[in-house]
Amino acid sequence: MTDKYAVIGNPIAHSKSPLIHKMFAEQTGQDIGYEAIEAPLDGFAATVERLRKEGHKGCNVTVPFKFEAFKIATQPTERAQVAQAVNTLKFDGDTILGDNTDGAGLVRDIEHNLGVQLRHKRVLLIGAGGAAYGAALPILQIGARLALMNRTREKADQFAIYLGKLGHVVDIYDFPNEADRKQFDLIINATSSGLSDEMPPLPTDIFAQGALAYDMMYGRETPFLKFARKQGAAVVADGLGMLVEQAAEAFFIWRGVRPDTAPVLARLREAA
Ligand code: ATR
Repeated sequence: MTDKYAVIGNPIAHSKSPLIHKMFAEQTGQDIGYEAIEAPLDGFAATVERLRKEGHKGCNVTVPFKFEAFKIATQPTERAQVAQAVNTLKFDGDTILGDNTDGAGLVRDIEHNLGVQLRHKRVLLIGAGGAAYGAALPILQIGARLALMNRTREKADQFAIYLGKLGHVVDIYDFPNEADRKQFDLIINATSSGLSDEMPPLPTDIFAQGALAYDMMYGRETPFLKFARKQGAAVVADGLGMLVEQAAEAFFIWRGVRPDTAPVLARLREAA
């Protein structure tokens, strides 16, 4: 019998996840079905319950339900707990395992696909919303030095305090304070600024030689990436690789098999 999976979000029509998982399944010979489901904004938990009753084995969760997904997980992983958000649920009897594969997907894309090793690197993470919380732990665990910044400074402070309580020391990048002029090897835009064609405020001399600029958004050249190119960032990347890698990590959690992401990413890039 075909094992059923889904991605739940709102909106969900443009999700690439069904295509990605279909390609993973073909490549690995796994017999799975995977569909996109739009849950009503007040109907996430009910949708998950329905899927469980119908025999689904798990689901991915996307905007705006990742925080609710964390709340319904009876067994959240450490990285889900740090992010307070879940993008992968696995159903096993009465247990709902909740994981967050976004940060691992980001790190894998940077290290494996883009060939930039993160250990000891100076990383600036911009944003203090769900996307940034999801990314922080895997970046710290790999041994990078992390600085945070956010348009609303208090939220960056809260984020740093939160990580500190978990035993992780991070800096706050205090732009536009002239005294805090720094350069970074990797700058990650984890804000939603690209959606409105805006960019987070940044000084011009922030990219170290050979720096990588990474925007978690994909499907368009964001103002942040345009800025990074002009500023001489050596490598400029959108979040398509992260999307494929977080999906591969979810696939592994469900099926115990790790798909080869390179051909899948290449197909998506061709289609874009
Ligand atoms: P997500 O789950 O995608 O991270 P979120 O929790 O709503 O979404 O957080 C959005 C993040 O993008 C926040 O860090 C927000 O900054 P504020 O805390 O100041 O609101 C940031 N953001 C959104 N639009 C932005 C813009 N135009 N410039 C800079 N930061 C922006």
